[in-house]
Amino acid sequence: MFLRNCWYVAAFAAEVAAQPVARTVCGKAVVLFRTGGTVAALEDRCIHRGMPLSQGGEVDGDILRCPYHGLEFDRAGMCRKIPGQDYVPSGARIAAFPLVERNGLLWIWTGDPARADPATIPEHHYHNDPRWEWRPVFLEIECDWSLLNDNLLDLTHLGFVHKKTIGGDPAAHAGAEMKVEHRDGRVHVTRWLANTEPPPFYRLGHAFKGKIDRWQEIEFRPGLVRIWTGGTDAGTGAYEGKREGGVQFMGFHGVTPRTAHSCYYHFTQARNFRLGETELDERIHQAAFATLLEDKAVLEGQQARMLENPGRGFIDIRADAGGLQGRRLVEQCVADEARTGAAAA
Ligand code: FES
Ligand SMILES: [Fe+2]
Repeated sequence: MFLRNCWYVAAFAAEVAAQPVARTVCGKAVVLFRTGGTVAALEDRCIHRGMPLSQGGEVDGDILRCPYHGLEFDRAGMCRKIPGQDYVPSGARIAAFPLVERNGLLWIWTGDPARADPATIPEHHYHNDPRWEWRPVFLEIECDWSLLNDNLLDLTHLGFVHKKTIGGDPAAHAGAEMKVEHRDGRVHVTRWLANTEPPPFYRLGHAFKGKIDRWQEIEFRPGLVRIWTGGTDAGTGAYEGKREGGVQFMGFHGVTPRTAHSCYYHFTQARNFRLGETELDERIHQAAFATLLEDKAVLEGQQARMLENPGRGFIDIRADAGGLQGRRLVEQCVADEARTGAAAA
């Protein structure tokens, strides 16, 4: 069951330029395109004979032309022209989805359009702030989006899955002080790893004197996980708010359900140190990409086993507290949507 009344990241804004782009969001095939600088999202199915408009559709002025027999559609999905005839039947239209460009991201809503309030799109100013630098990573992962949400809400896997990248000491991760709260319609997981070894990834950014005080502060709402992470020299006041002089990262993880067993992962990691250093930027980017591929392998392995063993359950452990709260929040949202009958698009 998809949660449809939710803003999800459909793509990075820069991905949608002259050519239409295909996505599937909550099981719906969507074509994203840009006319005169404005982005739009339509059902990726021509009303004439079902041709996917993303497969060679042409943007021309403010219309999208079907690549099969040339029907033309505007941003609202209305058919404006049919080659070889001088009239367009009433009702010749395809579904249009609310789509908003903000902070370098395209946010889509596939639920009840009457409930699509752009004011509820999470603001992510780091993408527009010259004091921060970021690069995008896009992955398609063959797993239910909830497995990726679980993964991001339980960072004890870092010491095992990400030994070679952002890892650190597995015992320090597993034993970290952790607080899980559910407030403001979000789940917050705070983890502090005091007096621990800096991981290789952090050493790229700063010459630490020795051990560090490390923080991981996670905020989850359906469609988006944000993770503030960083570290400073141990005992210099990180937990009292003094976080200068080390490394700080703002992780953006746009998690979008694609089908029941696949999702999109839109990742950025903004950093506020050593800006403009392209070589460092490339190393951090490559390390982040390697990290995400480590997660992808785990998630797709899990999903395969789950499909092979339908109905078999799992045990929960202490580290699952955040993930379980996240699942509860999604279940509540799905139940609310079912109650208000608002899932129609
Ligand atoms: S299928 Fe699109 S114009 Fe015929
Ligand atoms: Fe991971």
